[in-house]
Amino acid sequence: MKTNGNHNNKHALAFIIFGGTGDLTHRKLLPALYHLVAEEQLPKEARFLAIGRRGLSGEEYRAQAYESIKEHSRTKVDEGHLTRFLNQVQYHQMEFISEPSSYLGFKQRLEGLEGEFTLPPVRLFFLAVAPEHFSPIVTHLHENQLVQRGNPDHRVMIEKPFGSDLASARMLNATLSTALIEHQVYRIDHYLGKEMIRNILALRFGNTLFEPLWNHHYIDNIQITAAEDIGVAGRGAYYEQSGILKDMLQNHLLQMLALITMEPPADLMPESIRDEKVKALRALRRYEPIGACEGIALGQYGAGQIKGKPVPAYREEENVNPRSLTPTFIALRVRVDNFRFGGVPIYIRAGKRMDKRRTQIVIEFKRLPGINFYEEFKIQPPNLLVISVQPDEGMYIQINAKRPGNEFVVDQVEMNYAQSSRFEGNVPEAYEQLILEAFRANSSLFTRWDELEQSWKFVESVEKICTPTADSYPNYAAGTCGPKRADRLLMEDGRAWHEIDLSRTNPTG
Ligand SMILES: NC(=O)c1ccc[n+]([C@@H]2O[C@H](COP(=O)([O-])OP(=O)(O)OC[C@H]3O[C@@H](n4cnc5c(N)ncnc54)[C@H](OP(=O)(O)O)[C@@H]3O)[C@@H](O)[C@H]2O)c1
Repeated sequence: MKTNGNHNNKHALAFIIFGGTGDLTHRKLLPALYHLVAEEQLPKEARFLAIGRRGLSGEEYRAQAYESIKEHSRTKVDEGHLTRFLNQVQYHQMEFISEPSSYLGFKQRLEGLEGEFTLPPVRLFFLAVAPEHFSPIVTHLHENQLVQRGNPDHRVMIEKPFGSDLASARMLNATLSTALIEHQVYRIDHYLGKEMIRNILALRFGNTLFEPLWNHHYIDNIQITAAEDIGVAGRGAYYEQSGILKDMLQNHLLQMLALITMEPPADLMPESIRDEKVKALRALRRYEPIGACEGIALGQYGAGQIKGKPVPAYREEENVNPRSLTPTFIALRVRVDNFRFGGVPIYIRAGKRMDKRRTQIVIEFKRLPGINFYEEFKIQPPNLLVISVQPDEGMYIQINAKRPGNEFVVDQVEMNYAQSSRFEGNVPEAYEQLILEAFRANSSLFTRWDELEQSWKFVESVEKICTPTADSYPNYAAGTCGPKRADRLLMEDGRAWHEIDLSRTNPTG
């Protein structure tokens, strides 16, 4: 994906985190920034200004940051690099909602800090705050000329969720649009920063082995699974509002679907890639309100066991309504009505408290007609391409070959590329890539407004036709593969979910 030249020699960086004392900052952002500085990916002239409400001195903040980075870094930390990074970190106490005048003091602080640079700075604001704070913060930044509309060096990164439905997403976008143009907004979907998701384009458009087959002539079906074994992890109040549709489907799952089904872009410039993604999302068939929840299986977990330990039902989690109708699982059969994929069923499944954590995309190729005439080939399993996103990153191809021996027996064999073992410790975390690409003004890893709008339209079409009742849930036990209905969805089509465990296949690349 193309970027706009070497920014490190041309720009300094002022990176400002709203929500600098929050969970996301400590678990993800600080470790990501540490790695970027340690690996000299960011300019030498970089300052990181964390904003929080609590009264902390700079020293106290850096001490907390030190502990968080040591705990959450993907590699053992190097004390020298960590000290160098922390020397660039400052803390600013501020109440950013109820005290608009606080932006004046903040502006002075920021301008003072930028005054030490010799190169013109990129101002990158990261909003690691509750979604209701996005609009007021951006409005205040604009009113105080901390961001100027149309200035390409003033950029804002926004965490999900972007709206809670189509109408609220439109309202948020309208507010942002008065302060910023589209090119200044970097809407994060951290899945797009994951290595194997970025690899989809290389895999599809860099291999003669796949590109000619990547269509309805050769692909039987596609399965996308994003399963978690954790529950709501202390975020019950948030999850009650979002559920699986807004937490996973509207963003991560549809983004993966778009990358798998889009047409080749004219070039690898961000807008060319996003143009093709939005076309795929537009071709995604909406659900019509005929037939109750046709082609969709919703679920909510009951009590069960994870790794041998008992865990509570969703309705027993903290800050969750004991009669909650929030789904924690979804499986659906979708159609992308473009020329390439017309007629190919795409099965999507995501859930919490499932048997094990895995995100993977399985491409199942059609079987050869020849098998009808070769007795020995009759039980031939289909060829599969598996893109494993997490926890094991890699690729796996399942093919059929002769089993060694005197008899002619056809057996399935696997070719396995385990990226994580081949590049151990060197695979950057999603947030590292996202921050770096936002600094480089490469927006291809971020969601454009029209992609989001299409995603919300699709999600609303799902919501409209599925209305669970009090006795619909719970309908799957924690630690299982989800409700039985999700399996029936594929059985009705004469298919089954592929459960591929990359860690149990040949680990050498
Ligand atoms: N945590 C995750 O794993 C995760 C994952 C994906 C997306 N997200 C999204 O990321 C965002 C942040 O999540 P989080 O879990 O990090 O939230 P959090 O732990 O609750 O942190 C919120 C931050 O906002 C600050 N804050 C709140 N109100 C403020 C005010 N009026 N003035 C100044 N500072 C204020 C807090 O400062 P004080 O603590 O000093 O008061 C704190 O730094 C949310 O949009 C969330 O949905 C989070």
